Amino acid sequence: MVEAIRKSTREEREQWIKEAKYNLFNLKSDQVFIDLLTDSGTGAMSDQQWAAIMTGDESYAGSSSYYNLKNAIKNILGFDHFLPTHQGRAAENVLFSAMVKSGDVVPGNSHFDTTKGHIEFRKAKAIDCTIDEAFDTTLDYPFKGNIDLNKLEAVLSTYTKDEIPMIIVTVTCNTSGGQPVSMANIKAVKQLAEKYDIPVIFDSARFAENAYFIKLREEGYADKSIKEIVKEMYSYADGMTMSSKKDGIVNIGGFIALNSEELIKECQVYNIMFEGFITYGGMAGRDMNALAVGLDEATEFGYLETRIKQVEFLGEKLMEYGIPIQYPIGGHAIFVDAKRFLPHVPKEEYIAQTLAVELYLEAGVRGVEIGTILADRDPETRENRYPDLELVRLALPRRTYTNNHMEYIAAALKNVFDRKDAIKNGYTIVNEAPILRHFTVELEHK
Ligand code: F0G
Repeated sequence: MVEAIRKSTREEREQWIKEAKYNLFNLKSDQVFIDLLTDSGTGAMSDQQWAAIMTGDESYAGSSSYYNLKNAIKNILGFDHFLPTHQGRAAENVLFSAMVKSGDVVPGNSHFDTTKGHIEFRKAKAIDCTIDEAFDTTLDYPFKGNIDLNKLEAVLSTYTKDEIPMIIVTVTCNTSGGQPVSMANIKAVKQLAEKYDIPVIFDSARFAENAYFIKLREEGYADKSIKEIVKEMYSYADGMTMSSKKDGIVNIGGFIALNSEELIKECQVYNIMFEGFITYGGMAGRDMNALAVGLDEATEFGYLETRIKQVEFLGEKLMEYGIPIQYPIGGHAIFVDAKRFLPHVPKEEYIAQTLAVELYLEAGVRGVEIGTILADRDPETRENRYPDLELVRLALPRRTYTNNHMEYIAAALKNVFDRKDAIKNGYTIVNEAPILRHFTVELEHK
C-alpha cells in the first residue's frame, strides 16, 4: 500500500502546533510529513496478509480465523491457550484483572506506560529492575534491556509471594530504547522466579526484534533461526501479553497467551466483559487471519534484517552529525538523548518535549517524548517523576519509509542541532489528565 505524504511550511507548522497545545498527539496526520510517532499499527501489510484478510471468517464463535491464529501462536510461541484482545493494553487489562490487586508489587524492566498505568490503576506498584547500564546512553552494552538480578531478588525477598503476582519482562524493552534482553538474562530471571514461585510474563510487543538481537549478539545463537530463538525465549515464560500492532505487523490487535488452563479460564470472564467473546476478543476475523500471517513473517530473518538495518542507517547518520542517541541502536526506533542535546533547557520545562516540538517545527517530522511528561506524577505525592533519561523517540513504522526518508530526518535533526544553543526555554503544563497524561496534555511555551 502506498500513501501520499504532504510537505508544509514552517509558518503552517507553527500555527498547527500552537493549536495542538504543543502536544504532538493532537496534530492531524496530514499536518505531519514523516510520522515517527510510533511503530504501532503503522506498518504496511504484505500481499500474503492482504490475501488472508480476504478469507477472514467473521463468525461470532469458533471462526476459522481464530483457529488460524491459535495455530500460529502454538507453532511460533509455543502456548496452548490464548485469548484475542483489541490491542496490547487490553490484554494487560484482562490479565491484570485476574492477577493484580491493590497493594501488590510488579517487578520488571522499565514497564511500558500502559503496563504501568494498568498496574497503578489497581493501586499496585511497578518496580523497575532494569540494569543501570541502560541509563547511560553512551555506554556500549549489548543487552540494555536486561533485568538486574540483584534488584529483582531484593524485591522477591522483601515481599511475600501473595504480593507479587508476576514478573514482567518486556522484550525488547521499549522505554530503555528498544533494547534487547539476552537469553541468558531471560533464563536467569526464570530461575529466580521459580525459586520464589512467581510467574514470568513477557510483554511481547517486539519479541521478534529481541530474537534478532540475540542471534546477532549472543554467543551460541548465530546459527539458530529466529523461530528457534523465539521458541527458546518463550520456554522460559509462563505467559505473555502482546500488542500485535508491532511485531504482529497488523494495524490493530493483541492477545494473551498462557500455559495455565486455570488462569486462562479466569481471564476468559474478563475478556468476555471487556473485549468480546473468547474466540474474537475485539478483533475482526480478517484481522486475526492477517495477524497469523504477520507473526510468521515477523519471525523471518530477512524481514528483520531489513527493518533493523534501516533503524541502524538512521542512527549512524545521526551519530555522524554528532547527535547524541541511545547506543547501541535499538530495534524499532532511535532514541535521541535530549538532555545532552539541549543542555540549557531545565528539566522542569520538559526537555524531550521541547526537542520533539523543535523537530516538528523544523521539518514536519513527528517523534514522541519519552521523558518527564510520559513518566507522569507519583501516584502518592503527585509530584512530577523525573526519569534518568529524557529521550525523543523516532519510531520507524515497519515496511513503510525508504532510506531517502531517513536522510531527510537526519538532516532535519542536524539543523536543530546546529541551532541548539539558541533553544533555552521549554514548556509548562496548563492541563493534564490524572493518569497517562502524555496523550492529552496541553502545554504553553515558556
Ligand atoms: N507494551 C509495550 C512494550 C508497548 O510498546 C506497547 C505499546 C504496549 C505494551 C501497549 O500496546 O498500544 O497495543 O495497547 N506501545 C506503543 C508505542 C503505543 O508507541 O510504543 P497497545
